[in-house]
Amino acid sequence: MSRLVIEGGKALCGSISVHGAKNAVLPILAATVLCSDGVNVIHNCPNLKDVTVTIEILRKLGARVTRQGHTITVDARHRLRHHIPASLMQQLRSSIIFMGAIAARTHKAKISMPGGCELGPRPIDLHSNALESLGCKIKEKNGYLHVNAKRLKSTTLPLSFPSVGATENILLASCLIPGVTVIENAAKEPEIIDLVAFLNAMGASITGAGTSRIIITGVPRLHAADYSIMPDRIAAMTYLCCAAATGGSITLTNVVPEHLETGLSILAQCGCFIEATSSTVTLVAPPKLQAPDTITTAPYPGFPTDAQSLFVALLACAEGTSHVHETIFESRFKSAEVLNTMGASISVQDNHAEIHGVSTLHGRTVSAPDLRGGAALVIAALAADGISEINNVQYIDRGYDSLVTNLRHLGANIERK
Ligand code: EPZ
Repeated sequence: MSRLVIEGGKALCGSISVHGAKNAVLPILAATVLCSDGVNVIHNCPNLKDVTVTIEILRKLGARVTRQGHTITVDARHRLRHHIPASLMQQLRSSIIFMGAIAARTHKAKISMPGGCELGPRPIDLHSNALESLGCKIKEKNGYLHVNAKRLKSTTLPLSFPSVGATENILLASCLIPGVTVIENAAKEPEIIDLVAFLNAMGASITGAGTSRIIITGVPRLHAADYSIMPDRIAAMTYLCCAAATGGSITLTNVVPEHLETGLSILAQCGCFIEATSSTVTLVAPPKLQAPDTITTAPYPGFPTDAQSLFVALLACAEGTSHVHETIFESRFKSAEVLNTMGASISVQDNHAEIHGVSTLHGRTVSAPDLRGGAALVIAALAADGISEINNVQYIDRGYDSLVTNLRHLGANIERK
């Protein structure tokens, strides 16, 4: 297993372009299963492990997929299979989104439970309840979910929680169902807007994306589209935190500043100078960050849970005491205890982290607990004095394209070994 070796203490400075969004490209690739007419061309796809696994799933289903750089083409015109092996399903969380897509295309599906970062229990009851309301019959047998989707019907689906994945599954399951399906309390994340924009580019008829009420009017079939994935807002926040934590300055190109609003507001409270144009953000860090107001994670447009561990690492050396409250996942502070081995002073109780700023962190050999927890350790290692080694890099590789190249470009002493 590879590891990252980082010598901290250098201010990161420079400009980088942010890669396409992992949490947009994954459901959009799943959506190509619905297209029986033409070849979809999708640009700005990040080179990530989760994308590679999703391409393997598409090929397993019988689609023809090519990848040239950041462009992926998917030809799903021919008859598709309906079974995804557990060995692929269990490698990522977003494999569950194929349930709705395969059910809509082939009228049946055989899948196992998905994988994904261990952030606490990650049930799929909202997904299966919604698909059953759309007429699916779902039976669990020998660790697989067997879905019978011969009689799908449009309906209104009130979600008890604005689940990103469940909203995506409903969108994929319903866009070919005659009639009008309504999602109430839908997720409003930018990745949902991107998925709906792609579905509509393929000829779907969906309105309300980005609001809590999405209306899907079924169409008989979808045609191919030529589409470009939105920038990754969490990768963008990661690079901003790397520069802020090292007292550096950075310009990000190919970003959507409004997607970063809550993170930028916290960074400004910490004393960073922030300037944004329509597609760039520039940050100049102060010599010493100040503790901001309490950070509380929430569904979009609230502070994103995926940026929570990034900011816990950032605030480890901020002046004063910072507070971070996690409201989405039950176990998303794993990196805090690792940061404490690097000299941080963070106490976690009932999903609330209290961070007493220390003067500096010290390089250590540590292991990434999950994707964003691993990114948090990179931020800490870049700010720490001395050398850190970060194991379990495979977690980080699931969500960051060219992380080492980008950080070296910004002046970091970092190597993959
Ligand atoms: C998506 O996960 C993202 N993953 C996550 O990003 C992100 O943290 C999360 O949305 C919240 O924004 C992808 O898009 C691939 P949810 P998802 O359904 O869809 C509970 C990353 O780092 N829930 O909105 O799984 C669930 O347990 C990843 O890129 C149910 O109870 O998130 C959690 O507490 C990590 N039953 C909450 O809802 C269900 O059926 C939010 O889950 C589904 C979810």
